[in-house]
Amino acid sequence: MVRIILCGCQGRMGHVIESCVAERDDCEIVAGFDIVSEPAKPYPVYTDFSACKEEADVVVDFSNPASLDGLTSFVLGRGLPLIIATTGYSEEQTRKIRETAEKVPVFFSFNMSLGVNLLAELAKKAAAFLGSQFDIEIVEKHHNRKVDAPSGTALMLADEISSVFPEPHTYMYDRHSVRRKREKSEIGISSVRGGTIVGEHSVIFAGRDEIIELKHTAMSREIFAVGALGAAVYMAGAKEPRIYTMADLL
Ligand SMILES: NC(=O)c1ccc[n+]([C@@H]2O[C@H](COP(=O)([O-])OP(=O)(O)OC[C@H]3O[C@@H](n4cnc5c(N)ncnc54)[C@H](O)[C@@H]3O)[C@@H](O)[C@H]2O)c1
Repeated sequence: MVRIILCGCQGRMGHVIESCVAERDDCEIVAGFDIVSEPAKPYPVYTDFSACKEEADVVVDFSNPASLDGLTSFVLGRGLPLIIATTGYSEEQTRKIRETAEKVPVFFSFNMSLGVNLLAELAKKAAAFLGSQFDIEIVEKHHNRKVDAPSGTALMLADEISSVFPEPHTYMYDRHSVRRKREKSEIGISSVRGGTIVGEHSVIFAGRDEIIELKHTAMSREIFAVGALGAAVYMAGAKEPRIYTMADLL
């Protein structure tokens, strides 16, 4: 039985993780962290990492970039594997995650769903096939409570696509701010926020008189919870310190 400490346990994904764990018999939540201690949970909830005394095998994080310092000190102190699903980190924080992964195993993915990871593979293949003939644009849509934009997944897709070209592409987030024609070597990234959209990502390859669009739609948050719990079970036990991704899991 894999013992999980859940960071961000009072949030939307925290609730979904909890209900998915209740349906599995290979893992359990032994403690939670959040800045909010209410409502009470069937496990202890801490607002301070140092107060947690429960033994655990992994820490799963769906919280906020602000938790990173406490979270990394906690896993380094305990020598625990960390699964990071939170998005919206600064470059400095991403560096910190990479430094942490030199000492403890860190699973880091901006999107835990199987389908989005397939979308990334398909988009890479399409980009390699189409070369610079087609303009590439990514459009992501999320609910009106999401705080970071563009989504971590849109950036992940852009990085994957960019990796197939000899020179990295530049990302254009805001066409409003510049008045000039589109460059061939850019990937446009646009964000839509509204209602309760769980998450949509489209990669558009626009060529001369033809358009190819690859699209993933998340119908519920469960897909992320299933992926994150798969990662938690995979990461439990002895694993060498490094960054792990969905590619390791699949
Ligand atoms: N990688 C993925 O597949 C994936 C999927 C869904 C969501 N996410 C990301 O997971 C994160 C959480 O998403 P959500 O929809 O549950 O958000 P949410 O706002 O509903 O929940 C976040 C929780 O974190 C808590 N929190 C805030 N600051 C904290 C801190 N400093 N320390 C500890 N806890 C803190 C909040 O109180 C809240 O309970 C977001 O960054 C989101 O983008 C990732």
